[in-house]
Amino acid sequence: MTNRNVLITGGAGFIGSHVVRLFVEKYSNYKIINLDALTYAGNLENLTDIENAPNYTFVKGDITDEPFINALFDKYKFDSVIHLAAESHVDRSIKDPLAFVKTNVIGTMILLNAFKALWKDNFTDKLFYHVSTDEVYGSLGETGLFEETTSYDPNSPYSASKASSDHFVRAYGETYGMPYVITNCSNNYGQNQFPEKLIPLFINNIINHKPLPVYGDGNYTRDWLYVVDHAIAIDLVFHKGKQGDTYNIGGFNEWKNIDLVKLLCQQMDVALGREKGSSEKLITYVKDRPGHDLRYAIDASKINKELGWKPSVTFEEGLKITIDWYLNNEDWLNSVTSGSYQTYYQKQYS
Ligand code: NAD
Ligand code: DAU
Repeated sequence: MTNRNVLITGGAGFIGSHVVRLFVEKYSNYKIINLDALTYAGNLENLTDIENAPNYTFVKGDITDEPFINALFDKYKFDSVIHLAAESHVDRSIKDPLAFVKTNVIGTMILLNAFKALWKDNFTDKLFYHVSTDEVYGSLGETGLFEETTSYDPNSPYSASKASSDHFVRAYGETYGMPYVITNCSNNYGQNQFPEKLIPLFINNIINHKPLPVYGDGNYTRDWLYVVDHAIAIDLVFHKGKQGDTYNIGGFNEWKNIDLVKLLCQQMDVALGREKGSSEKLITYVKDRPGHDLRYAIDASKINKELGWKPSVTFEEGLKITIDWYLNNEDWLNSVTSGSYQTYYQKQYS
């Protein structure tokens, strides 16, 4: 196996921490550098089990800090980058779009420039892997699936910033010959997800007997994928994906929000030993998200056919693992929901 020097950005976040763990545990001959600014969404407690591994180094830093990033590339001479660092929550992007442009667009540009400056005209055995989202494709109607060839049509400031960064990655490939790959994935769920996103927010609210704020009529559809299966897909694409190509990653698992919330309520009642139907009573319909995309659904047949990837757990299994994890990690949940989380929650849901 070749030795590699891999920069993973955003590795203290939800998906990033699962990717870092998989790479550190599986590739002892790789040097893995995890660069993360530790924003509200980044948490080193996600990685305590591997923090002392000999092939792992954590660096605290901001991808928008150009001199710092250039010095980091100079020091470590990364041959590959797996770029996950981002502002990732749609509701926050509606309140503060500029923060999303700074990190997701400018931050990505600074990484691209540092990578290009380091390897100039000799990109042999190099790779810039951009982790992106299905939201760049916009919204589907009641039928159809997002394919890799679907035109970009982003609707939220978050998805517009991710679409923009995807375009820049592709442009660096076309213009400068930089080897890259992009994956566009559907909604992830699983352990260590910050409780601002639907599933962990509702788990936390059920635990605390708080209302479950369903946006609009709840008839919005998302395709859900267990986070470890996303990390496995990233590993496959990193090693076997075709350079200059895009792969859609999804769970083959569409749910209307309201149906998902009812399933979650049923599983929570069982896990908490509460009376059947008690969590469902917490469902509260609230004002809709502006520009709310109706439906996302991924056609993941390309990654399935070309690389043999498919999800390893069913949704019911993944949801059970997730619920059990949150119930067994009360300290983690309490620590991330104290302080600034309360201010965010008041502003978003009052
Ligand atoms: P997250 O919000 O949980 O984590 C983001 C991480 O990036 C955090 O650790 C944060 O500290 C770090 N970060 C933010 N700004 C930074 C900066 N300026 N410099 C350095 N680090 C910074 O996000 P996530 O859900 O794990 O998503 C990771 C990536 O995957 C994002 O690029 C996101 O767009 C993409 N994605 C997410 C999903 C999903 O369902 N969560 C689905 C598809 C794609
Ligand atoms: O599709 C991939 C994307 O999935 C990722 O790129 C994003 O980073 C990630 O945040 C996620 O975006 P969504 O907006 O789909 O996820 P969220 O969990 O915020 O919302 C899921 C659905 O649930 C959506 O239709 C809005 C709804 N919702 C969400 C929240 C937080 C509610 O009804 N109430 C809520 O309180």
